Amino acid sequence: MNAIELQGIHVALDGKQVLHNIELTIKQGDFMTFLGPSGCGKTTLLRTIAGLQKADAGTITISGREVANGETQFHMEPSKRRLSLVFQSYALWPHMTVYENVAFGLQVRKLAKAVVREKVEAALGKMRIAELAGRYPSELSGGQQQRVAIARAIVTEPDILLLDEPLSNLDAKLRVEMRAELKRLHQELNTTVIYVTHDQHEAMTLSTKVAVFFGGQIVQLDKPRELYKRPNTLQVAEFIGSAGMQMNRLEGVVRTDEEGLSWLETPVVLIPLGGDGSTMQDGQEVVLTVRPEDIRLYEERRPGSIAMSVSAVFPSGAETLVQLDTAGMSLMARVIGESEYEPGTTLYAVLRQEQMNAYDKKTGIRMELQYVTHNNEPGESTHEDRLSYSR
Ligand SMILES: Nc1ncnc2c1ncn2[C@@H]1O[C@H](COP(=O)(O)OP(=O)(O)O)[C@@H](O)[C@H]1O
Ligand SMILES: [Mg+2]
Repeated sequence: MNAIELQGIHVALDGKQVLHNIELTIKQGDFMTFLGPSGCGKTTLLRTIAGLQKADAGTITISGREVANGETQFHMEPSKRRLSLVFQSYALWPHMTVYENVAFGLQVRKLAKAVVREKVEAALGKMRIAELAGRYPSELSGGQQQRVAIARAIVTEPDILLLDEPLSNLDAKLRVEMRAELKRLHQELNTTVIYVTHDQHEAMTLSTKVAVFFGGQIVQLDKPRELYKRPNTLQVAEFIGSAGMQMNRLEGVVRTDEEGLSWLETPVVLIPLGGDGSTMQDGQEVVLTVRPEDIRLYEERRPGSIAMSVSAVFPSGAETLVQLDTAGMSLMARVIGESEYEPGTTLYAVLRQEQMNAYDKKTGIRMELQYVTHNNEPGESTHEDRLSYSR
């Protein structure tokens, strides 16, 4: 059974359309992340699923039960939806101990004292904070408070756990630690999780699926690896490529000749294209993206390589980032291990074409370009010879 189904969800706040026609299915046990820049509607959708916000149109089904229907104005109250929500601000009750904070949701259900104790202890144990039971929130660090907030959310054994930027108030080290804890917790509980973040790293490391939001719409829904490798639009590519996951961008123009051959002309390399050319137009502007790990560096010239000059070397542990320049263009390449290239050294860069993405510059939509792979049989590679060796 699907954990959640959203159909045609529209939400307006203060007369402004905030969510547009959201369609989304989340499977039982998924770790679904809503990823997008601030203000794109992630929290609003989470609140709509939780029942804290009414949808103007559309239906929401949780574990097979309809919980909201815009047309019939049906709106099940939040407490009956069998889900728990953890906010960015931990919202712990300051006058209650950790134990009391976590127990509260069970006590209002009038469970027996012994049952409450057992469940609270289990939840504190899962969050590894059993020893903090008697403390007050003011006696806890930010990370500990966040653990209490999550313990409080899981103690009621919800079908779905909703987490809204739960790590954004923590410092970098704690964030990484809590990320690992959340991953472990998800595996242990096997609960469906919806996780909201604007942090690409969190989305990539935690999720089974990522929904990317822009302007109140889901623009891509994919597994993290697919999202990383094949962003659907230039906007998504650039968003995923920011924040330390560098993305090289190369502008080019499609050229076709009277013999029906076509190629992509960039300031630094000509890339022969295959296919019948029917999807491409002469003069069409294209943006290519290539990740640093998909650039190979050689000390000698290769077919299709670009001669570049090393401008800076950034050692970073197990890998080295090498910045290269040519003709007013700069590329970042990632090489495994230590590389001690002197600035000014000439290297030959080969872009792994099968890992590149091409986007129509006007629409920003990804294009399926067929690159001609290098053919080593002499005499058969006229197209390639003409292009690759022309510079
Ligand atoms: N209570 C509100 N009244 C009016 N507009 C709101 C309200 N809450 C959020 N918004 C607007 O809705 C949009 C989406 O907000 P939100 O869902 O909080 O985005 P995110 O969580 O992705 O940062 C933003 O443009 C925000 O200004
Ligand atoms: Mg938000």
